[in-house]
Amino acid sequence: MQKSSLNETARALFADGKGLLAMDESTPTCNKRFAQLGIAQTEEMRRAYRELIVTAPGLNESIGGAILYDETIRQKKADGTPFIKILEAAGIIPGIKVDAGAKPLAGHPGEKITEGLDGLRGRLKDYAGMGARFAKWRAVIAIDDQRPSRSALEANAHALARYAALCQEAGLVPIVEPEVLMDGEHTLERCAAVTAEALHVVFDQLHGQRVRLEEMILKPNMVLPGLACPCQPSADEVADATLTCFLRAVPAAVPAIAFLSGGQSAELASARLNEMNVRFQSRAPWAVAFSFARAIQQPALDLWHGDAANVAAAQKALVHRARCNRAARRGDYSAAMEK
Ligand code: G3H
Repeated sequence: MQKSSLNETARALFADGKGLLAMDESTPTCNKRFAQLGIAQTEEMRRAYRELIVTAPGLNESIGGAILYDETIRQKKADGTPFIKILEAAGIIPGIKVDAGAKPLAGHPGEKITEGLDGLRGRLKDYAGMGARFAKWRAVIAIDDQRPSRSALEANAHALARYAALCQEAGLVPIVEPEVLMDGEHTLERCAAVTAEALHVVFDQLHGQRVRLEEMILKPNMVLPGLACPCQPSADEVADATLTCFLRAVPAAVPAIAFLSGGQSAELASARLNEMNVRFQSRAPWAVAFSFARAIQQPALDLWHGDAANVAAAQKALVHRARCNRAARRGDYSAAMEK
């Protein structure tokens, strides 16, 4: 069988209105979510939860790719079938998170740098051998009156670009994720300014490292005020602020922008994505899509609660959220879908 080009893979992830499911929580993050619900934080419970996800009937109607974590890509269903084989059989393209997490940036109180470049070439080769066809690296950008500093933006963008170039060398489509966080009291306008600056620095570094834009995916934050900002905008204001910013900053050669959810409620994330497609689909040169973790998984995790008796109900909730977001990609989502 002929191997797809990276551009074909990047497009296949978002074909027919589909998007990505991020199920790449690191072990500490997954354990934190389990602890909030009183679920045992063991490898077997994490495996059982991920089995629930990859075997959910109908997930492949709305999900074109799933982002796994190092532990998850090696795990198997109770009957011994590797998760990666289950995804492939369902037509869901497997991907892998390859960064080693965000650590404090020396000399920059309150700012972080994502680590993981050392040894990355070898790890990418191993993951490609296991069947991964795309990868993800997340940079974290905090906002307040003083932050982000230009130097933190540049350090993170440089790491993202070095990672992306290594992915393309290894035959994997890089997902480039500069996430401006929602924590804080900042306004929508401040988030728009910081997001624009972050994107300009990222695309400058991608150009410098000779990353082929046709063969990558951008996974950014939506332009939103901080969670503690008293002035919270409507979905159409978010859509306008977000797409105005991205139309100015993201080259048309990029095949898709797949937003992260970042702690928004599942319904708000769908409604805001829907508005972007309603208002801008005819003008946007890239697919306006989703790569959500919490905004797809959280209702399912709440229902499952670590109990095998709840698996079918949790799978239904998971597939429902995936369908809502596929509808939002087409501008067909409405609150009525939630009834
Ligand atoms: O890196 C972040 C995740 O892949 C997306 O997670 O949708 O819960 O923000 P989120």
